[in-house]
Amino acid sequence: MTTRLVTSALPYANGSIHLGHMVEHVQTDVYVRYLRSIGDDVTWICAADAHGTPIEVNAGKAGVPPAQFAEAHRQEQHRTFQAFGIAHDTYYTTDSPENRAWAYRIYDALKARGLIHKRSVEQLYCEHDQRFLPDRFVKGTCPKCATPEQYGDVCEKCGTTYDPRELKDPACVLCMRPPVVRSSDHAYVNLRRPEVAAIIQGWVEAEGHLEPAVRQQVKGWLADLQDWCITRDAPYFGFPVNDADFPGKFLYVWLDAPIGYLSSGEHYFAAEAPPERRLTPEAYRARYLDEGAPARLEHVIGKDILRFHAVFWPAMLWAAGLKRPDRMVVHGHLTVNGEKMSKSRGTFINASTYLESGLDPELLRYFFAANLSAGPSDLDLSLEEFRNRINADLANNVANLASRVAALLQRATGPVGSAAPDPEVVSAVREALPLARRAYGELQLREVVRLVSQLASVCNRRVQESKPWENPTGPAEQAVLYAIAKALGALALMLQPILPRFAAALANAYGLPLPTWTEWLDPFDGQPVAVREKPPQIARLDQKQVEKLITSSAEAPKPAKVAKGASPAEGAGKATAKPAAEPPVFGVIQYEDFARVELRVGAVLSAARVEKADKLLQLSVDVGEPAPRTIVAGIAQAYPEPAALVGKRIVVVANLAPRPLRGITSQGMLLAAGEPPNLQLVTVGEAIAPGTRVK
Ligand code: MSP
Ligand code: ZN
Repeated sequence: MTTRLVTSALPYANGSIHLGHMVEHVQTDVYVRYLRSIGDDVTWICAADAHGTPIEVNAGKAGVPPAQFAEAHRQEQHRTFQAFGIAHDTYYTTDSPENRAWAYRIYDALKARGLIHKRSVEQLYCEHDQRFLPDRFVKGTCPKCATPEQYGDVCEKCGTTYDPRELKDPACVLCMRPPVVRSSDHAYVNLRRPEVAAIIQGWVEAEGHLEPAVRQQVKGWLADLQDWCITRDAPYFGFPVNDADFPGKFLYVWLDAPIGYLSSGEHYFAAEAPPERRLTPEAYRARYLDEGAPARLEHVIGKDILRFHAVFWPAMLWAAGLKRPDRMVVHGHLTVNGEKMSKSRGTFINASTYLESGLDPELLRYFFAANLSAGPSDLDLSLEEFRNRINADLANNVANLASRVAALLQRATGPVGSAAPDPEVVSAVREALPLARRAYGELQLREVVRLVSQLASVCNRRVQESKPWENPTGPAEQAVLYAIAKALGALALMLQPILPRFAAALANAYGLPLPTWTEWLDPFDGQPVAVREKPPQIARLDQKQVEKLITSSAEAPKPAKVAKGASPAEGAGKATAKPAAEPPVFGVIQYEDFARVELRVGAVLSAARVEKADKLLQLSVDVGEPAPRTIVAGIAQAYPEPAALVGKRIVVVANLAPRPLRGITSQGMLLAAGEPPNLQLVTVGEAIAPGTRVK
């Protein structure tokens, strides 16, 4: 049994949890549940990251003290995570007394080692707002490619990184006035000192800390180690620096944020843990934090915050005599329908929007798992793929198998056992379990999902081949049904970290306990099975349901958090001069998506009204196939004399699933523009033959 402290990155207490955050918390939650299923002692620490300029500024706009602003967001974030079954042991805050004490302890340790020095730095300063401007609080024209409206750190167009002072025509995003350059004294950590650089490098290169691809990236940064500035000027929301050398300064949020992992753990063990798990701060340090402590420290983070975690963090821990992380899992970013999440496109989806759409949170957990590996590649929430994945894998392959087999088993008079369970199913289970266990340990969740599907497919095939419904109580049939019932227990175990509720209900329906997952686990224990209740169902998703995610995200645009005038009196600046109404949002598709729609030219052979349906016409259309197609369309009000349509060359969606309308099967759809009565069919000239592809 291994003891572990696992963390996920601390979301800024500056807004709601979105589906990008959910990737990380689903990944960590699945990992933690898996580790517990193999018997490890795991504590999962998370918290809201309360400090920094954006929170201080937004709290000011909201007219509340920053601590209160952050606390409100922390509570809301915590509730959202719970609704997704994310089982953090604690969701604390970095704005805590414990964190203050730890931040000072680590600052003092850096100082005692002579690693902190003072430097005067020039920065952009807004005289109107009376503050120094962090990179994201300055916008201007890119010095390289001349694209306007770029932030002070990087050009989104050409990718150049620069110092904000290099921007052309810089403006403060709060008031849109041009800033000035001012200098101020700050504390820097000297990371280039040989003993520090050696510690960082040793940590980065040690086996098991980072994935090889990630390690390569970090090594690139080590080649060019810069000293790190850890203080900020007022106004700021953070801990005041406790050092007479830096009067009036605050600790930079990125100094105290990772320290929040340690301090939140201390708070958890001292105040929140169940009585038998409580630890004094001293005992907690000895077990989890001190150099040589027996517990493993493991972080899960996104690739955007890797430098803070893999370069600065090991150095800080070392300076304070604390152990360095044993593993850092780095995931990529979530895109939606192939693009970066964007508020104006409706693809910036809040976790609460997902919940409000009525979709089961476990479906999103499954989709993320199906697309996650141990590496930092990005993953895409394509709504179409989401729907297909859930329908094909979960609804059809797994849940449907469970109900079919349960129904067949229930035809037997008592519990069903078999001395010779179906060998194909038995070997598929024996093969899948250890592979899934290994894949979980390596965080290859995609592979786990593949193994689940593969095992369920074998079971489905055996049902088809052995036709147990013909004689459900015969010994050969029972050998198959019994083996599959046990396989469903194995599937529940394999799925439990990903779909905790579904898996528990599945095992329970078959009266099977979910065991601790030992290496030698074999479910074919000879115990007969009896179905206790109906297995859990997974309803198939339809397109409308899934698209609601985007439409409701687009419908409720939130005011931009940062780039807005500070008060109406200042609202004449550029940032607020955006057009009031955004163009309609349909979501961006890739060419491949469009190419899947088969549009063909059709010649109308006949057209007539549909009885008792005053909106519908029934057409016979030649689309270049041996027989004409029947198409029913809601265009009667626009074409009071249907015969006038005969001979027209129209455009037909030729690969649309046939669909009954008023008892007539419509074998396609017509393209038209406008609303009846002012509607016109899309037509082409007679030179284009029926059947020609429109593209
Ligand atoms: N507060 C810092 C982290 C401090 S950790 C000591 C922060 N907060 S954040 O809210 O911006 O991001 C929190 C985590 O969510 C990060 O690991 C980040 O990578 C992750 N994600 C934010 N947007 C994401 C996606 N679109 N996709 C996947 N993960 C994303 O950074
Ligand atoms: Zn300003």
